[in-house]
Amino acid sequence: MTSHQIRQAFLDFFRSKEHLIVPSAPLVAKNDPTLMFNNSGMAQFKDFFLGNGTPPSRRIADTQKCLRVSGKHNDLEDVGFDTYHHTMFEMLGNWSFGDYFKKEAITWAWELLTEVYQLPKDRLYVSVFEGDSKDGVPFDQEAWDLWKPIVGEDRIILGNKKDNFWEMGDTGPCGPCSEIHIDLRPASEVAEISGKSLVNNDHPQVVEIWNLVFMQFERKADSSLVPLPATHVDTGMGFERLCMAVQNKTSNYDTDVFQNTIQVLETLSGKKYGANSESFADIAMRVIADHIRAVAFAITDGQLPSNNKAGYVIRRILRRAVRYGYSYLGFQEPFFYKLVAVLADQFKDVFNELKSQEEFVTRVILEEEKSFLRTLESGLKRLDVIVNSLKEKGISVIAGDEVFELSDTFGFPVDLTALIAREKGFQIDELGFQDALTEQKNRSRQDAAKEATDWIELREADGVEFLGYDFEETHSQIVKYRKVKTKTGEEYHIVLDRTPFYAEMGGQVGDTGILLLDNGLADGKKTIRIVDTKKENDLFVHISQDKDLDDALQNARIIVAKIDSDRREKIKANHSATHLMLSAMREVLGTHIGQKGSFLNDEVLRFDFSHFAKVTDEELRKIEDRVNEKIREDIALDERRNVPIKQALDQGATATFGEKYGDFVRLIIFDPTYSFELCGGTHIPSTGQIGVFKFISEGSVSAGVRRVEAVTGAKALEIMRQQEEVLNKIKDLLKNPTDLVKAVESLLDERNGLQKRIVSLENEKIQTLKSTLIDNMKKHSTFNLIVEKVDVPNADSLKQLSYELRDQIENLIAVFGTEIGGKPQLSVFIAENIVQETGLNAGKIVKDLAKEIRGGGGGQPFFATAGGSDASGLEAALDKAKGLF
Ligand code: ALA
Repeated sequence: MTSHQIRQAFLDFFRSKEHLIVPSAPLVAKNDPTLMFNNSGMAQFKDFFLGNGTPPSRRIADTQKCLRVSGKHNDLEDVGFDTYHHTMFEMLGNWSFGDYFKKEAITWAWELLTEVYQLPKDRLYVSVFEGDSKDGVPFDQEAWDLWKPIVGEDRIILGNKKDNFWEMGDTGPCGPCSEIHIDLRPASEVAEISGKSLVNNDHPQVVEIWNLVFMQFERKADSSLVPLPATHVDTGMGFERLCMAVQNKTSNYDTDVFQNTIQVLETLSGKKYGANSESFADIAMRVIADHIRAVAFAITDGQLPSNNKAGYVIRRILRRAVRYGYSYLGFQEPFFYKLVAVLADQFKDVFNELKSQEEFVTRVILEEEKSFLRTLESGLKRLDVIVNSLKEKGISVIAGDEVFELSDTFGFPVDLTALIAREKGFQIDELGFQDALTEQKNRSRQDAAKEATDWIELREADGVEFLGYDFEETHSQIVKYRKVKTKTGEEYHIVLDRTPFYAEMGGQVGDTGILLLDNGLADGKKTIRIVDTKKENDLFVHISQDKDLDDALQNARIIVAKIDSDRREKIKANHSATHLMLSAMREVLGTHIGQKGSFLNDEVLRFDFSHFAKVTDEELRKIEDRVNEKIREDIALDERRNVPIKQALDQGATATFGEKYGDFVRLIIFDPTYSFELCGGTHIPSTGQIGVFKFISEGSVSAGVRRVEAVTGAKALEIMRQQEEVLNKIKDLLKNPTDLVKAVESLLDERNGLQKRIVSLENEKIQTLKSTLIDNMKKHSTFNLIVEKVDVPNADSLKQLSYELRDQIENLIAVFGTEIGGKPQLSVFIAENIVQETGLNAGKIVKDLAKEIRGGGGGQPFFATAGGSDASGLEAALDKAKGLF
C-alpha cells in the first residue's frame, strides 16, 4: 500500500464506523496559552473533553499535522539520529466524545491493524496502565480484560505513569492509555530475543504505533486530578511509523513518505543515502527530509521564522537543517528551499494549503537560508579570531561564554562550534556553555512569568454564548474565575455564560467595558472594569486588574456585562476597512496577496501580507483611492452566519491560511463582487461609516512579508490635522510665503551657499595663520620648531594645518594647542625623518603634554592628538613642549 492508500484506509475505516471525518487543524496552535503548536490530534478538541464546547459529532476521525519541538513533548534532538522520531508528523486519530469507550476503541484498533493493514498478529504487543498510587488511579483492569481474549495474556505489558498515562501538557485533559507496539525485526533476531522485552526500550524496530487514551481526568495547576464530566476516547497513531510497518521497512525514512525528498537530496549533493545509516551524511539527509516538512507546513499555516516564541522555534529547525546540509552534504549555497516543491506535490491531495502557497513558502525559506549562511560566515570569522587568540596564549579550550556568545549573538549552533573547534584541534567548555544557557533561560523565564491558579467554578454552563454581534450589553452570570499573577501585579480572569465582549481574535483586539454587579463590591462600588478580553480555546476570558474581587465574584447573581461602545465602533470601522483594503490590494498588487498577520484596535489597523517588493507610493495611492471609493459607495453589510464552509469556499469567499474554521462559518460581504471574506469579527452596518481611509506607513516585516498601517474616520482627520498644524507652523516661521515648497528650497540653497563660504573663509584663515606661524618659527640646526596656541574651527584643522606646513617646511616639529567649544585640544607633529633618526614619538609626547590639560590621547609616532577637560592648562602644556626640543 502507498502512504496515500494507508491514510485513506484509516479514514474510510472510521467513516464506516460512523465517524465524522474532519480536516487537520493548522499546525500552529491558536488561543491556547499552554501550546505553541498542535502536538497531538486531540489538541483541537481539548475543549470538548473539558466540557467547554460541543463537538459537531460524538465520533470524529482525522489526520492531524503535529509538531513536537517545544514544551512537554519535544523530540527535536532525536530527529535524524534515529529512524522513527520526527518534528512534524501526521497523527491519525479517532475520537469518542462521551460516546463509545474502551471496548470499541480496542476492538476497532485491532481490526484495522490486522484485517485492513494485515499486520502480523504475532508481531504486535499491547500495554496497559499498571496504576499509580500517588495519583490515586488504579490498574486498568477493564483494558486488560478486553485485550486478553484478543492478544493473549503473554502479549500484554504493564506500563507505568510515564508510558501509560497520557497528558497533553502540564494541565488539561488526561487519562490512562493502552499502546500498541510492533516488532519489525528480521525473524532471525526475533527468534533470539523476544519482542516483548524490547517494548518501550528505544529499539528502532520495536516501536509504538498507536496510543489509545481513555480520557477520564483533568490535571489541574496544583497537579491534582479531577474526573471529567464524561469519559472519552482519544487515539493517536503515528502515520509515518504505520507506513513503515505496512510497507515492511525498518526505517520511517525508507517509506514513500520521505523517499521523494531524500532522492532530491541525493541528486543535489551527489551522495548516496543508505550505505551507512549511522554516517553523518545519512543523518543529515534524515534531518533535512524531516525538517523541511515542519518548516514548510508551519510557514504555510502562518508561522513565519522570527526571533521570538513560535517563530524562533521554526527558525531554529530551519537552521538545524541548513547546518547539517552545510556541514555534512557540502551545501555552501541555499538548497533547503528547493525541497518545498517536492512536498507541495506530494501533499496536494491531503494538505492542499502548501500547494496554494508554494511560491511564498519557497521564497521565505530561501531568504532565511541566505541570511543564515551569512550568519554562518560571520560566526566562522569570529571563531577564527577566538581560536587565534587562544593559540597565542597556548589555551586549547574555548570558554563557555564565548561559545554562548557565538550561539546567542551570531546564531552559531553549539554543535557546529564544537565540530569546527575539533577540526582546529580545540575543545569547547560544554559545562560553561550550559551554565550560560541556564542563566539566560532563568532570566527569560522570570520575564515571562505568569502564574495562574486553577479556575474557581461557580456555576455549570454549557459553553459560552457570544452575543456581541447583536448586543452591546447582556445580562449574564459568572461561570468561573481565576487569579493570575503577572509581572506587574495580579489580574482576574472571569468567564461568563453569555457575553457581548469580543475576545481578541483574527487580529481584532478584545473589548473593554464593565461588569455591573447586583450585589456590589466591599467598598460599595458596583462595577468591575474589564481591560481586555482574550480567547482561551473556546472560552471568552474577561480580564480585570481591579483588586480584591473574590467576594464580589463569588456572591454575584445576575450581572450586566457592557462593552465600551464608542471604542467598539472605531474598531468595527477599522475591521471593515481592512476587508476593503485587502480587496483593493489584490486588485492593485495582484492576487498573490495573502494575509500574514493582522492587528486592529480603535486607533489603527495594521496588516501584514505576502508581497516581494516595496509597495510604491503610487500603488499605495491607488489602493487608498479604491478603498475610499468603496467607502463613498456606502455599501451595506451583508452578514451571513452559519454558512457551511464548503458552500462559502465554493462561492469564492476569501479565507486566511492558518486560521481554524469550523464546519459552519460567518461571511462578511461588502458587495459580493468586491469583498467576500470568512470572518468572525465585528463590522459596521455600511461602509460609509468608515468615513475616510488613509495609509500612514508601509515597510518590510521579514523576507516576503510587508506591513502597512492605516487609520480611518476621526483618527484619520486627527492625523491630517496634526500634519496641517506642522505645515502651518512652518509657514508661520517662513512668514507665510505664497509657495511653501519654493520657500523651503530657497532656504536650503541659501544654507548650502553659506556653508561653502564658511569653508572657504576657514581655508583663507588657515592660510593666513600658516604664514604667521612660519614667520614665528624657531630655526634650529637639525629641526624647525613651531609651538603655538592657534584659533581653528575644529579639531581636524590641527591635522590639516600640520600636514600643510610639513609640505612647505623641512625637518618640522609642530605642537599646537587650541580650544574647541571650551575644550582644550593638542596636536604634535614630528617629521618622519626626525622620528627615524632620533626615535622621538609624537604619541608619547602628546600623552605627556595632555596631563597639563587633564586629558589623554595618542596616535602615531609622527602625528598624535589629545583632548582634555581643563583649558587653563593649555599654556603650561605648550611651555612644556618648548622645553622638550
Ligand atoms: N493524544 C494521544 C497521543 O498523542 C493519543 O499519543
